[in-house]
Amino acid sequence: MNLEKTEYSISCKNLRKSFGEPPIEVIRGVEFGLKKGEFVSLTGRSGSGKSTLLYMLSGLDEPSDGQVILDGRNLFQMKSLEAHQFRNERIGFVFQFHYLLPELTAMENVLMPARKVNQQGLKKEYARQLFSEFDLENCKDKFPSQMSGGEQQRTAIARALIMNPSFLFADEPTGNLDTANGDKAMEIFGRVNRENNTTILFVTHDPDYAALAHRQIRLVDGKVESDTVQKH
Ligand SMILES: Nc1ncnc2c1ncn2[C@@H]1O[C@H](COP(=O)(O)OP(=O)(O)O)[C@@H](O)[C@H]1O
Ligand SMILES: [Mg+2]
Repeated sequence: MNLEKTEYSISCKNLRKSFGEPPIEVIRGVEFGLKKGEFVSLTGRSGSGKSTLLYMLSGLDEPSDGQVILDGRNLFQMKSLEAHQFRNERIGFVFQFHYLLPELTAMENVLMPARKVNQQGLKKEYARQLFSEFDLENCKDKFPSQMSGGEQQRTAIARALIMNPSFLFADEPTGNLDTANGDKAMEIFGRVNRENNTTILFVTHDPDYAALAHRQIRLVDGKVESDTVQKH
């Protein structure tokens, strides 16, 4: 299996991560590729390594060993400034907790990734479009504390999408939401995948949400236990 082939838009090879002294390995030789436009769920028990894996795939954390190759580039061999820009443009990340900046309005939060590269003017129209699509029109000028949990998370999703990333990673994005808002967030992911061909990898504990993915990867003790493509 040649994981560096361009048919994979993200791949990892012999990925390993250890923590502590003596080191305990929590990701133990993970290897898979995601094709452009795939919609994939990542499941596994608490502590199985889902978050650690997602952080490494998105460059937020460095592996102890192995490689992550994004669009043909080895993520951890790039110079830090270049890696930072690459991530800002290509990768969106949604956490379980929204991590919006409390002193900024929803609109300012969504435009933050664009502001980092001086594109806030250029992206304003797209931001407005996302607010309208995500049913957030009345939230533009609100601060996170003035918004509901569902609105906060949809704002965080809009922020992750503002640069039109090729990849969207989401770590239990519905974990803090009630059913209606969780459904709404999943519906947004599905639409972004279909309409923008964004590659999406999301972690969930909910079997119904996992079933919405076209492919399901399951981790057990830091290894891929199963990797199944759904037949729809
Ligand atoms: N920064 C860290 N320092 C030490 N141990 C960690 C750290 N991050 C994660 N771990 C450990 O790695 C294992 C996998 O954690 P995690 O990736 O958060 O699992 P999951 O997201 O599947 O619940 C757990 O045993 C956790 O305690
Ligand atoms: Mg986790």
